[in-house]
Amino acid sequence: MLEKINRIKEEVALFKAATQEEAEEFRLKYLSRKGRLNALFEEFKTVAGEQKRETGQKLNELKIQLLDTFERCKAETDSGRLSDTQARDLTRPGDGMAVGSRHPISIVRNEICDIFGRLGFTVAEGPEIEDDRHVFSALNFPPDHPARDMQDTFFIAGDADALLRTHTSSVQVRVMESVPPPIRMIMPGRVFRNEAISSRSHCIFHQVEGLYIAEKVSFADLKQTLMFFAREMFGEKTQIRLRPSFFPFTEPSAEMDVSCTCNGKGCSLCKHTGWLEIMGCGMVDPNVLSNCGIDPEKYSGFAFGMGIERIALLKFETGDIRMYFENDVRFLRQFVPAL
Ligand code: DAH
Repeated sequence: MLEKINRIKEEVALFKAATQEEAEEFRLKYLSRKGRLNALFEEFKTVAGEQKRETGQKLNELKIQLLDTFERCKAETDSGRLSDTQARDLTRPGDGMAVGSRHPISIVRNEICDIFGRLGFTVAEGPEIEDDRHVFSALNFPPDHPARDMQDTFFIAGDADALLRTHTSSVQVRVMESVPPPIRMIMPGRVFRNEAISSRSHCIFHQVEGLYIAEKVSFADLKQTLMFFAREMFGEKTQIRLRPSFFPFTEPSAEMDVSCTCNGKGCSLCKHTGWLEIMGCGMVDPNVLSNCGIDPEKYSGFAFGMGIERIALLKFETGDIRMYFENDVRFLRQFVPAL
């Protein structure tokens, strides 16, 4: 038995494992339940009394040696050690850094500003807390118009004339009051309406308003401008369609549709009509011009207004407007630009 012990001691004295697998093989061979060490302990039970002391001592030495060898092999092949070496490998690709992303509403707003910027439109902004004049009366809303109702507009408690703007058209009024024509501006901003929150509507959303006032501006200018916008935004082949509509502040008024990417075949996005409504527009009503101190005999102009969420829904084909307000990173991460 002593001989066997010595043989194993010699056998493992110079043992080295190159991989974790080899270290594991070592453990199985020597240290597992059915391994050589256990077999020797079994055999030890049969050793005669006078040899027990010496054999037991040697057996314990062997046990310690085997355990030490295994620990050493494991440490040498450990993944920790491996990544230490890797960390020093200068050819190894760097670890990626997590970058944030712009919110999809900002992406679309910036793109709209960019497109109109190329036509010479500059950007203006106005307050979110407004008064009746800028949101309604200067824009020709009659006193009994339903938009003035508590049902539709958030009024600020304790102030007879303070409300959250329901559209960015209020900024048109502020611009016309403060700068003389020619005016060529777009006005992005947040608007508020007292509406139930659902997949299609929200009580807070974003609009971009456009205004062009100069001499002899015609409906043809409006059409060309919006056509340019639609093609830049949705692609070269995009068609537009203007349908007669009504807004108190424009006359004539229209709603603009763009052709759906299904090419008129009909899909669920366009509800099988082939067209998608994206904005309201029209020639600024002469009453509005004079309400804002601009001579309607000399100047004319057009205005338009669109919902940013609506354009984002169409562009990104996201089905639920609420996703734009929840700030769920799983949604937002999809808008990280490719590097
Ligand atoms: N203010 C309108 C709305 O919120 C949108 C709009 C329609 C704006 C026609 C305009 C316009 O400037 O000419 O629904």
